[in-house]
Amino acid sequence: MGAVALILAAGEGTRMKSATPKVAHTILGEPMVSLVVNAAKAAGCERVIAVTGHGADVVRSLLAEDVTNCVQEEQLGTGHAVMCARDCVADFEGSLVVLSGDTPLITPDTIAGLVAMRESSGAAVTLLTTHVKDPSGYGRILRGRDGRVDAIVEHKDLSADQQHITEINTGTYCFDASVLFAHLDRLTTDNVQGEYYLTDIVGVFNSEGLLVSAMTTGDASETMGVNSRVQLAEAARIMQRRINQFHMLEGVTMTDPGLVWVGPRVVLGRDVTLEPMTFLMGETQVGEGARIGPNSRVTDSTVGPGAVVDSSVVVQSKVGAKANVGPVAYLRPGTVLGEAAKAGTSVEIKNSVVGDGSKVPHLSYIGDAEIGSGVNVGAGTITCNYDGVHKHRTVIEDDVFIGSDTMLIAPVRIGRGAVTGASSAISDDVPAGALGIERSEQRNLDGWAERRRRAQETDGDE
Ligand code: UD1
Ligand code: CA
Repeated sequence: MGAVALILAAGEGTRMKSATPKVAHTILGEPMVSLVVNAAKAAGCERVIAVTGHGADVVRSLLAEDVTNCVQEEQLGTGHAVMCARDCVADFEGSLVVLSGDTPLITPDTIAGLVAMRESSGAAVTLLTTHVKDPSGYGRILRGRDGRVDAIVEHKDLSADQQHITEINTGTYCFDASVLFAHLDRLTTDNVQGEYYLTDIVGVFNSEGLLVSAMTTGDASETMGVNSRVQLAEAARIMQRRINQFHMLEGVTMTDPGLVWVGPRVVLGRDVTLEPMTFLMGETQVGEGARIGPNSRVTDSTVGPGAVVDSSVVVQSKVGAKANVGPVAYLRPGTVLGEAAKAGTSVEIKNSVVGDGSKVPHLSYIGDAEIGSGVNVGAGTITCNYDGVHKHRTVIEDDVFIGSDTMLIAPVRIGRGAVTGASSAISDDVPAGALGIERSEQRNLDGWAERRRRAQETDGDE
């Protein structure tokens, strides 16, 4: 498809009552504007342009590199936003899809359908409309007796006899780009809000005898505009249901889909099980047969086939096939757990590799470490990786046994097959096959406990 997409994302979104620009608010972990950009790309648009203005720095930082940004310094309305994009669109001829950054549920199919309809009908514009029970806030579609669209009237500009109209403008259009820019200067601010309404272009086209067509979608949920936090939550609910249904039909078990949140970029294998209160966000992949939850959050991570993540948080990490995480583990960025490895109860791991079959089962902090395969890390072991200024590495070679409560004072290396004594503070390297032990010798005082008990009894008799 040779179309260009123009996404209007410069508005403040006053009704959000927020310091964050409206289109930067997220749904299932994705900023609304990114959802719209991705829908346009998936529909096959060859170029995406975003109009930013309010909070432009924030919004721009969310846009993919291949999205052209153009600035609307002052937000004088949706028509004005398109005027500001004129130079970015330049002499492009063909279908210009205009989308709103606050209509996050729009699908690629609908965008592609709109373009196809305009191109086959040769219309100057094809509007996307829908019928809703409660049209308040939306622009209404005025149709003539022949059923053609005469105009769009904004909610605030409705006359008394137009209030009953339930067909609304979804804010999604496909224009003939050159026809649009040739007539854009005809928009005025002569309305209740004193803005340049893009919607007025429909009346202009009609007065010029240009063809205006409309595509009406039966799925009003797809075109809902988000203007408030109530609508943001509603949109999130709709997207959650849409995504979960897709995955369940593809072979994923969700014991309670209402309590599972999966972002739109997440890829799930067959026979994955997602337990309640599980959040999978960002660029996350889960392999076949893995089980996640309950109470787990996995962001921008890979979970291998057959792995288990129970009541844990996994961020920018890789969990190997058949590995075990949790209950209550925290895998921070840069953690790589090998095949059948374990990060067990109350274990925190950061920027570390844990080799195949290695286990960190209980109460440990592992940071900036490289752990080989077949290693057992005893309960309570901590890598002391930070001296207050610098971070240092710990290397534990294959088949090492780290005794419980070992403090590994980095930089330090434990050679292949070595053992550390429980409760040792290991600050020097331990050679392969050796025992590294650092603790004072134990004394046993014979009869001491018995003597104390008798002394306490005598005290009590007085
Ligand atoms: C708009 C439509 C309305 C439609 C509704 C669908 C107009 C005049 N009205 O109303 O017919 O039913 O969307 O959701 O177009 N924006 C800018 N620059 C501006 C103003 C807005 O970039 O100067 C952007 C906003 O960031 C937003 C989009 O345009 O993403 C729509 O603006 P908004 O103010 O939400 O318009 P609505 O009142 O919802
Ligand atoms: Ca809106």
